[in-house]
Amino acid sequence: MEFNQEAKKATDQIYQKISKVVPEIEWSIHAPYIHKINKLKKEKNAVILAHNYQTPEIYHGIADFSADSLALAVEASKTSADIIVMAGVHFMAETAKLMSPNKKVLLPDMKAGCSLSSSITGKDVRLLKEKYPGVPVVSYVNTSADVKAETDVCCTSANAVKIVKSLGVKEVIFLPDDYLAKYVASQTDIKIISWKGICIVHDQFNEKEINIIRKNNPGIKIIAHPECPPDVIKASDFAGSTSGMIDYVKKNQPKKVMMVTECSMSDNIQVENPNVEFIRPCNMCPHMKKITLPKILDCLENETGEIIMDKETINKARLSVEKMVAIGR
Ligand code: 13P
Ligand code: SF4
Repeated sequence: MEFNQEAKKATDQIYQKISKVVPEIEWSIHAPYIHKINKLKKEKNAVILAHNYQTPEIYHGIADFSADSLALAVEASKTSADIIVMAGVHFMAETAKLMSPNKKVLLPDMKAGCSLSSSITGKDVRLLKEKYPGVPVVSYVNTSADVKAETDVCCTSANAVKIVKSLGVKEVIFLPDDYLAKYVASQTDIKIISWKGICIVHDQFNEKEINIIRKNNPGIKIIAHPECPPDVIKASDFAGSTSGMIDYVKKNQPKKVMMVTECSMSDNIQVENPNVEFIRPCNMCPHMKKITLPKILDCLENETGEIIMDKETINKARLSVEKMVAIGR
């Protein structure tokens, strides 16, 4: 696609904003797509919801709303657009469909999955319920709609502890993230029955690496996502959802920070926090990175990648997400 004067004029302001994190040579490739997508989404009354792990050209260039998975679910229920394009992974698009079943929800790459979501099926949850009759099931939002349909209440990393406590019970089945389950257990007296799912991105961090970085960078703040192994969280100064981590940096303006999470987070918020130095050993999510500008344009133009689910699954699964949204952050 040609980087002509029209595309340059329409996208210059965006580039001024993100020039520190996107090289000029790359911009000539991104800009024509950004211009075309921004025009097309207006023509089609479409909204682009982007997760915080999307690359800066998506996050700052075309997203109408960027957030953590809890806020994306809430936004999907409120939008007046006819089409929702989810710049994120499959479970996020499914969740948007659950919250807005009458809208067309599109995912630019159907293979954008999640290691947590693929670690468990609805059948697995039914077997767990047979094994632990009467014990409520709390599922991380990083699950398929089939799993959500077997779930009492969903949670995200932003509200997992609050949701589990809200049930007022002594024992909870919490799935599928074993590390998040351990984190919740560390914050409550409730017995947690967990599942052996892990996030392939956060599982790669280790305590030794964190300690070396702290030693080499006196005064650094280290903030981690709760999907990290427990010893990593313990060695960090703060743990929170992706938006919780962003808020921490905005509010505290640390001189130096390491975000123990997916790589795009530091790039995306560097833009609005120019005085913060980001130390970047980070890991890339191969699923999030499947979403690109050309794929977003293609799915918006041809309305491909539509999320289709049967009514029964939608109705059952939606209840667990709605209960979560009602409890809030
Ligand atoms: P958040 O809910 O914190 O945005 O996390 C979603 C996710 O997939 C993190 O790996
Ligand atoms: Fe799933 Fe981990 Fe990727 Fe988040 S970062 S989408 S939890 S694989």
